[in-house]
Amino acid sequence: MDLVGLSLPLLLVFWQWTTTTGAAVTYWTYTGSVGQSKWADYFPDCGGKAQSPVDVATVQTQYDPSLGPLTPLGYSQHGNKPFSLYNNGHTVVVPLPGWMGLGGLPWQFTAVQMHLHWGNGALEAGGSEHTINGQSSAAELHVVHYNSELYPNMSVAMTQQDGLAVLGVLIETGEEANQAFWNILNYLGRIRHAGQSVSIPAFDVQSLLPSDLGRYLRYNGSLTTPPCFQSVLWTLFTETVKISHTQLMKLETVLYASKEDADRVVMQDNYRTPQPLNDRTILSSFPLESVKVYTAGEITAIVIGALCGCVGVAVIIRFIVKTIRSTSSWDVLPSIRPAPVPRTKEPGKDLKQDVALNTTTEPGKKEDPVPPSV
Ligand SMILES: *[C@@H]1O[C@H](CO)[C@@H](O)[C@H](O)[C@H]1NC(C)=O
Ligand SMILES: *[C@@H]1O[C@H](CO)[C@@H](O)[C@H](O)[C@H]1NC(C)=O
Repeated sequence: MDLVGLSLPLLLVFWQWTTTTGAAVTYWTYTGSVGQSKWADYFPDCGGKAQSPVDVATVQTQYDPSLGPLTPLGYSQHGNKPFSLYNNGHTVVVPLPGWMGLGGLPWQFTAVQMHLHWGNGALEAGGSEHTINGQSSAAELHVVHYNSELYPNMSVAMTQQDGLAVLGVLIETGEEANQAFWNILNYLGRIRHAGQSVSIPAFDVQSLLPSDLGRYLRYNGSLTTPPCFQSVLWTLFTETVKISHTQLMKLETVLYASKEDADRVVMQDNYRTPQPLNDRTILSSFPLESVKVYTAGEITAIVIGALCGCVGVAVIIRFIVKTIRSTSSWDVLPSIRPAPVPRTKEPGKDLKQDVALNTTTEPGKKEDPVPPSV
């Protein structure tokens, strides 16, 4: 809400300038008078039927066995020439060298840049653009490529239906710092204000990606910022990447969306909310039953749960086997039922009951039947 309040005077000035000069509005924000609900008024594609991001309802995804693993090309050959990092007023951008690209898609794609989307530092608040079954992640990394087989450059490709391929990586917080992300986060303090840029040491871009590049979701969508062109073949990896809480805090608090000489507006919540899927299908590169994003914590819980379950079953089986072995017939089974066995003499029932009790394991240890387990 700070963002709206602080940027309002600035917006009014800008609005007057654009209306008096008759220039098209190219200024936009995530909230406020040129916030995402207004984008379509100024950038018609933002109101299209194939917008991004989307929420992925995993049960509605469709397995496509033809979707093979994606191959980053040259991502690790970063060379010695420094990368640059810049604050464009909406996010932090790292332009990528033209020899980096993607294999495993219908065309050859060349890397252009990568950037991030995040939340506002509040616990449990979202930050990712794509959501899985309604669940947000803390942040999201996008690596943008253009179709260099069909188009001469990014500017031309971004307006074409098959022009771009973007990799989406969901980021969550974990215990440990992610060393790869320090390559970016360490330098944010040098580009706090919109328009600033800094040279940074080149690094292995692939180290930012999850290790399993074979499991992903695929759909046709758009740029998630104005002008929202519907030109993106999306690949959203199902394995998430972890950064530490400290790293996330750095991302969420260091940058300003405002220029150096303007009132400070913290760059936060720079994510677009999920857009209607309409008649699109989201494909998955692996069969449906395993479509789920598991965190390390969840995996641990599942493993522990399964172990406990196995131990429990083993105990029960052992108990049953022991009980059966130690008795001469199935007659004894009623005595393991939770209902207490009446001790009062009932003519006719005496005999059977006595037999049952006499045949149980430990002699002299005549007890009430096993209590119900909880
Ligand atoms: C992209 O290619 C087009 C067509 O060749 C050209 O007119 C345009 O100037 C190029 N844009 C950039 C940014 O290089
Ligand atoms: C994306 O759109 C193209 C062209 O309509 C189509 O051939 C392709 O199958 C679509 N891909 C997905 C993942 O829906």
